Amino acid sequence: MTLTPSYLDALRQRINDRLNEVYPSGPRLLAEPVHYALAGKGKRLRPILTLLTYQACGGRETDALHAAVAVEILHNFTLVHDDIMDQDHTRHGQATVHTKWDDSIGILAGDALFILALSELRLSPGNLDAHTSAFVKGALAVCEGQALDKEFEAQSWVSLDECLQMIDLKTGYMMGLAAELGAICASASREQIKGVRRFGSLLGRAFQVQDDLLEIFSDAHIMGKSLGSDLLAEKKTYLMIAALERAPDQVRQAIEMARGNLEDGLAALREILLATGVMEEVETTVRQTVDGAIAEILPLGKRAEPLREFAHLVLNRKK
Ligand code: IPE
Ligand code: IPE
Ligand code: MG
Ligand code: MG
Repeated sequence: MTLTPSYLDALRQRINDRLNEVYPSGPRLLAEPVHYALAGKGKRLRPILTLLTYQACGGRETDALHAAVAVEILHNFTLVHDDIMDQDHTRHGQATVHTKWDDSIGILAGDALFILALSELRLSPGNLDAHTSAFVKGALAVCEGQALDKEFEAQSWVSLDECLQMIDLKTGYMMGLAAELGAICASASREQIKGVRRFGSLLGRAFQVQDDLLEIFSDAHIMGKSLGSDLLAEKKTYLMIAALERAPDQVRQAIEMARGNLEDGLAALREILLATGVMEEVETTVRQTVDGAIAEILPLGKRAEPLREFAHLVLNRKK
């Protein structure tokens, strides 16, 4: 085991130290929400993935910290805007930016975070063109995934394949980007870059499916974010589609119940997911997707061991 808790904490510390420096000063109504969004208790999974990929691809003399931090800023930008779109009020164990200030400040702080992410990326070693082109593709993919996520709310039926396409765009692509940037910093070969990008993307897919499961089965205090909005907004998560396929009438009843009392609706849904076997089925999908991700980095040999450990950490997470 190379990814000890203290090693991961040390990586998180380097990431947080740099995040503290990226916007030293500015008008109060911009600097405060930007600092607030970046200082929350995020797990920093994406920048850790960039740093580990960098090492797995043989990076040694230069460093991938700026690229790692750029992805984390991009991630936080998407969260600030996502929380406005999903009307969620808690994130990273604190009030969301639009709740603490208002929607305009949430939009503005998000815009600034996006620009700060790009300017941080420009400090990275390796081919700047390759960095920028991967970054802009990833950022646009998130917008496309968010658009599908919204479109699907209003549709009564979405297939599992369509759902996976949406997940890959809104979440998988950015995890793939995190890995890809680490490989670009290490001047990895084209084949290696492709492999780690597929690893990150599949890990992101597993991560989102699991996150939607945790949204129903975990606890808002442990997760540090508001839970239950998926059910109220009729989000077409992988889990909900699988449940709708098995027990459509019961699931619709649970949604109706949630409109009156969220806790009752969630409890009813948990029972349906357990009784129909959907919960077990979705957990199997998550495990198989992580196995598929790990298969993509086999060509890296022993050097990829920390990436394999990282994938298992994600699989076993509780928040
Ligand atoms: C939250 O991601 C958004 C999703 C893709 C589900 P994380 O769980 O990685 O976000 P942090 O750790 O709270 O920043
Ligand atoms: C996460 O979307 C993906 C992005 C922010 C682009 P979700 O809406 O599913 O994630 P949570 O539940 O708010 O963290
Ligand atoms: Mg959302
Ligand atoms: Mg959300």
